[in-house]
Order: sequence, then structure tokens, then C-alpha cells
Amino acid sequence: MLSSEIREKFKKFFEKRGHKIIPSSSLIPADETVLLNSAGMQQFVKYFTGEKDILEDFGNRHLISMQKCFRTGDIEEIGDDTHNTFFEMFGNWSIGIDEKTGYFKEGAIKLALEFFVETMGLDKKKFCVTIFKGENEIPRDNESFEIWQKNGIPKERIREFGAKDNFWGPTALTGPCGPCSEIHYDRGEKFGCNAQNCGPNCEKCKRFVEIWNLVFMEYYKNADGSYKKLPQTNVDTGFGFERLTAIMQDKSSAYETDLFYPIIQKLEKISNKNYNDFKKEFRIICDHLKGSIFLIADGVEPSNIGRGYVLRRILRRAIGIAFRFGFSENWYQDLIKIFQDIYSEFYNEINNPKIKEIIKQEENKFLKTIENGLKEFEKIIANGIRYISLPTAIKNEKNISAESSFYLYQTYGFPVDFMKDLCAEKNIGFDEKGFKEEFKKHQDISRAGAEKKFGGLGKTADYKAVKLHTATHLLHWALREILGKTAQQMGSDITNERLRFDFAYPRKITKQGLEKIEDLVNNKIRQGLDVRKQETTYKKAIESGALGFFKNKYPEIVNVYTVGDFSKEICAGPHISNTAELGNFKILKEESSSAGVRRIKAILNEF
Ligand code: SER
Repeated sequence: MLSSEIREKFKKFFEKRGHKIIPSSSLIPADETVLLNSAGMQQFVKYFTGEKDILEDFGNRHLISMQKCFRTGDIEEIGDDTHNTFFEMFGNWSIGIDEKTGYFKEGAIKLALEFFVETMGLDKKKFCVTIFKGENEIPRDNESFEIWQKNGIPKERIREFGAKDNFWGPTALTGPCGPCSEIHYDRGEKFGCNAQNCGPNCEKCKRFVEIWNLVFMEYYKNADGSYKKLPQTNVDTGFGFERLTAIMQDKSSAYETDLFYPIIQKLEKISNKNYNDFKKEFRIICDHLKGSIFLIADGVEPSNIGRGYVLRRILRRAIGIAFRFGFSENWYQDLIKIFQDIYSEFYNEINNPKIKEIIKQEENKFLKTIENGLKEFEKIIANGIRYISLPTAIKNEKNISAESSFYLYQTYGFPVDFMKDLCAEKNIGFDEKGFKEEFKKHQDISRAGAEKKFGGLGKTADYKAVKLHTATHLLHWALREILGKTAQQMGSDITNERLRFDFAYPRKITKQGLEKIEDLVNNKIRQGLDVRKQETTYKKAIESGALGFFKNKYPEIVNVYTVGDFSKEICAGPHISNTAELGNFKILKEESSSAGVRRIKAILNEF
């Protein structure tokens, strides 16, 4: 079945059952609580709580959409069978009504089964479903357990999981959420690990693929971590169109379906290489180029922060592979055209000529960046300068030393992603751990200088460290708010992986205290606060309430960084521009640093 037929059938099926089609919203979310739109429900949040009535804006309580989504958390997975950064999420909604006036759990489950089995012709025997087993204050989803059985899914094919797998949302710190029930499709033994308990969410294999998530939005999570029942019930469902297409076309991955395969064929032609020999590289080009096209079409431009950085990273990765494969100039032209042929009927915005221009500009910039580094890389390899065999790399006979790779990165701005790919292709071991250690060593040295005295990061910081620096400011203010003003900074140390913050406090912080601190920081992140820099005199800065704990050590003119109206500190920077870029703040450890001084270690995860 062609992907366009699946699209049509989905629309018709739900239209016939009284659903209204809502156009996909932009990848740039309207509310800024997330960096990029990552789920179909994002545009409906305010209707789930009853804050706004869906009827007023959409004239219907039953809706469907085919939503453009982008998940940054999946960038590292690209190349496998089941992940895409950019994908379309198809879903149906039933908002503010129950089983009597519309549908809730039973109606949603029945519709999902009917669409998959009767309209798509999928074999129900290959379905394994999951339900919420109960956790925190929320009870087990007994209703769904019964409904699945009543509708032909036997007990042994119903598995139960906790909140990590079967409780969805909120997407921000607070908000609507609820237990979910998923349909997983059994791809067969050849994809399996043969373990006895193999099933949905198996950690060892990808035999079972999640193909529909049905969320029953009936709770609201409060800022203190507690839950309350929403005044209304809602259904929010979503499935990946690419995954379903792969199943409908009996392919092991979406790359082999009509949504990608014309691109793969073109790539085989222009590279003179076989897809089966270079699956990962081909898939990365497909995924990243497509993601770039859709991001640019929605107005994102490459930069070093936020969404712009996401675009830059994926685009450069694809360009890097094209470069190493020796593609000729404008290699992307025909590929863009193929994507346009597949998608412009549904997403007119991808016909924008800006897409090609921006890709071209970014390619020029990137090739300039790697030019000298590449020469040096070749020299290192050819002459064996700084090129040694490391005992740590067992797989490869040859390895590039951590010292050399860091030298290339630091002196020539040679991108790490590119270097890693290059080494993999040439069968040269890349010592990632060693590279990170070099990076840290270097940061420690540069930060030991004058900037550190003023609480800054130094000029060599990379984006991750900059994010952690802004998170440090948020943490500092959260500590003051939760523990009192005496919790003042005593020291700070940031790598590109974690922050470490020392502050005055006489005793161990309780688990609840830590949770409150973490929640407050995440709350500020989700609010998407702007980070502003202002130059002023030290005196004025202190008078205005800015913090600065290195008395007598500041120059007369200082920079004051404010985060919304939450934090205000004298600091040398650098910082990110909006807290929405930070992701999810997580405290790893709280311990004693010295008498009367506590230490917190924390990280930022992607959303
Ligand atoms: N919100 C759920 C998801 O993204 C279902 O649409 O999986």
C-alpha cells in the first residue's frame, strides 16, 4: 500500500466517524515550552485542561491531525530501523467528552483496532499491547486491561509497565497527562532476541515496535509533583506514519518505503555505492536532509544556539558524508526535488527556494571550516605524527590518539561528528573517552584564568557547557528560594557534561528539598525565559540586586546576566539566549564539600 493511500485511508476513516481534520502546526512551537514540536498533542494542551473550549476554536470535539514532529533526543539513533528525527505523527483526539457523549478509553481502543485491522488489514495476532500498571498516586489502568480483552487481545498479550513507559506527559513541568496504552507490532522471530520474556519494550531487541500510543488524559500534574483529576477526560493518540508505512509495505525500516527509497536509489547513483554496504551513511543523509528541509521550511536557520544549532548539526553531518563520498557540487539539488515530489502536496512550504540557498551557504561555511583540519588530519595519518596505537581500542589496528583528535578540534575547529565518521570509514579507532578527557583538561586550564574569578566560563566553552552555565544560574537562585538566602555560591565547576555547584548550607538537603529545587529549575526552563546581558558599573549592578560574591575582584564595568525576572548575577558569560534551550535539569548528587558547604552535581538531558 502506497504511503499516500495510508494517508487517505486514515483521513477517510476518521472523517466518516465524525472527526475534523486539523492542519499540522509548525515545527516551531507556539508556546516555547519545548524547542521543537515533538508530538501531535502540543497544539491542544490548553483544551485538555478545559482552560479553553475546543468547540470555540475548532467547532468539533473529535479531531485528527498529521503533525510534523522533530525529536532531538533521537539524533544519535539515526541509522537504525525504527527512528527518524523528523517524522509525521498521525493521531485522533476526543477532547472534553466521555464514553457517553463521545468516546474515552473504550471508544479509542475500538477505533484503533478497527483502523489497523479492518482498514489497514494488519494481523491482530501480531499485536501485543501494554497498559499502565500503576505508580506514584495513580492506580493501575484496570479499564483498559478489560477493554483489550473484550476486543480480542488475550491476557498473555497484554503487558503492564510503570510510569516510564505507560504514563504520558506532561510535556512541561506541570500540565495534563495520563496513563497510556500502546499497541506494539510483532515483527517476527528474526528480529528477536529469543529471550523468554521478550515482548514490548524489550531491552535486548527490536522485535516489537510500538505502532500506536493511546493516551488517556485525565490527570494534571502540579508543580509540587502531585496529581489531580482533570475536570474532563480526553483522548490523545499518536502513531508514527513512517513506522506504519514500513509495516504496510512489509519493510524492515521506513528507509525502504516509498517515503525514502527514491532518495536511496538516487544516492546509489550519485555515489556509485551500494545501499547495503553503506546503510548507516545513506540513512543519515536521508533523515538529516529531510529534517533540514522541513526545519528551514518552517523558518529555522543554522546557528550555534537552540533550534538553529539542531539544524546546523544535522545538516553538517549530512554534508560531511556527502563530502567524504565525493559528491559533486549541488548534490542535494535532485534530492530536495525528490522530497518535494513526495511531500509538497501535503506541505506546500517545502517548495521554498530558500531551502537550497541555506543548504548551499551552510555547505560553503562547513567546507571552509574543515579545509585546513582535513589537511592536518591526512598528515597525521600519513606521517604517523601524534598517531599511536592505543591499548584501549581493541577493534582497530590503528587509532588516532586523544591528544591528536583534540588538537585537530581545538586548533582547526575540526568538528567531532565529522572526525568520528571519518575515522570509522577509514577503520581508524577514535578514542572518544580520551577526547573528552582532553577536552576537560583544557577547560580546567582555561577556566583557571581570570574569567573564573568572575563566575564566567571562558571563551572555549562549547554549547553544552554554555547551557550548563545558564542552568547553574538557575540552580543558584532556586537554592536561595527553597533553602533561604544564606545558600550562596562558594564555587562552581562546569564541564561539557555536568555542572558542579558548591554553596553555603549547614546540613544535608532532604530528598523532597532536592525535588523541589529540581522542579523549580525545570519550571523556569519550561517557561522559556529570555537571558539578557547588560553592561553596567559594579556599583549599579549590586544596587539593582545582582549577585556577585567575589568582592573587590570585579572590574569597574561588569556584565549582569538576568534570566527572566528570576535570576540576576554579575557574570562574564557566555550564556544561552532562552531557557527553553536547556532541556531537562536533573540533580545527580548532593554531598558535603567541606564544613558548612554542600555540593550539587547536575546534568541537562534532552527533552
Ligand atoms: N502524545 C502521545 C505521543 O506523543 C500520543 O499522541 O506519543
